[in-house]
Amino acid sequence: MTAEPLEIYLEEQDLERGLREDVRAGLSAEQKWLPPKWFYDARGSELFEEITRLPEYYPTRAERAVLAERAPDIAALTGAKTLIELGSGSSEKTRLLLDAFTRRGGLGTFVPLDVSVSALRASTAEIAADYPGLRVRGIVGDFTRQLDRLPTGGRRLVVFLGGTIGNLLPGERAGFLAAMRAALEVGDWLLLGTDLVKDPSLIVPAYDDAAGVTAEFNRNVLHVINRELGADFDPAGFAHVARWDADHEWIEMRLRATRPMRVRVLDLTVAFATGEDLRTEISAKFRRAGIAAELAGAGFAATDFWTDPEGLFGVTLAQAR
Ligand code: SAH
Ligand code: TRP
Repeated sequence: MTAEPLEIYLEEQDLERGLREDVRAGLSAEQKWLPPKWFYDARGSELFEEITRLPEYYPTRAERAVLAERAPDIAALTGAKTLIELGSGSSEKTRLLLDAFTRRGGLGTFVPLDVSVSALRASTAEIAADYPGLRVRGIVGDFTRQLDRLPTGGRRLVVFLGGTIGNLLPGERAGFLAAMRAALEVGDWLLLGTDLVKDPSLIVPAYDDAAGVTAEFNRNVLHVINRELGADFDPAGFAHVARWDADHEWIEMRLRATRPMRVRVLDLTVAFATGEDLRTEISAKFRRAGIAAELAGAGFAATDFWTDPEGLFGVTLAQAR
């Protein structure tokens, strides 16, 4: 089958308005910050795919190992009719689930949702071509805002992979899980991929690779703002910083000004001192008990928890109750 036309929950103008609001709030704050969803234009999505293939970036390989082993169990346990994927990107690992559901039978519809139109266009076309008989409905949307508009009915499995939940701040994460639960019916399923707490000497290089791909990815947000809002950031004037915050158990990504700069954006002139940081992203790392507790707090029962053989990455299956 060919993929259905993308369903647009987020119009181009919503995106631009959102970007303007976030840039205004983040760049006029005392500690400057930008929210992570703006990394993912076409170039950002490509750079992220490159990150997943880096020798230092273990999460993708570890999560793939879990899914390769457990996909048949996940298909059997959930018996899902509809598979919804949030922040789907290329949906490359999700194919392991689609394969298992195809062998088992019963899955009718795949609904990937992402802010990145380019990533969705490519993934929906490829998946529709490779899984004849599967209805593929791509949705351009924001998973922090539009969960109430997800397709309803039938036994649903929502998958949220890649540790992307760790890119939300704790308060946003609780809000996200509550909205997720509100969008589901009792008995529906959530499959959640989370990177696990481990020695920072293994985590930090995953966010600061030798080839500099993650640095390029981080700086891409400045290119996005230049292009979309006509700003004049000099991305080369910012160094990529990834530091482990042991108290919060998260990686914090920053862009550090390497010289004094004044940036014109919207009607603002934003001054950066040498060494001043712009916070761009956190990537929280989790523990099994914490994941189960957060899920329980939102109305989910964690029924299964699996890791790769090295215990690097966790995948939790939970059911709405
Ligand atoms: N699931 C894939 C991609 C993870 S990267 C994997 O595991 O490899 C994070 C993905 O989430 C990107 O494709 C990005 O475009 C998307 N994304 C980030 N913030 C988003 C938001 N607020 N709403 C929807 N998608 C978002
Ligand atoms: N969800 C991914 C993660 O937290 C996203 C990611 C990987 C990322 N590398 C990054 C985000 C570098 C910002 C910068 O692992």
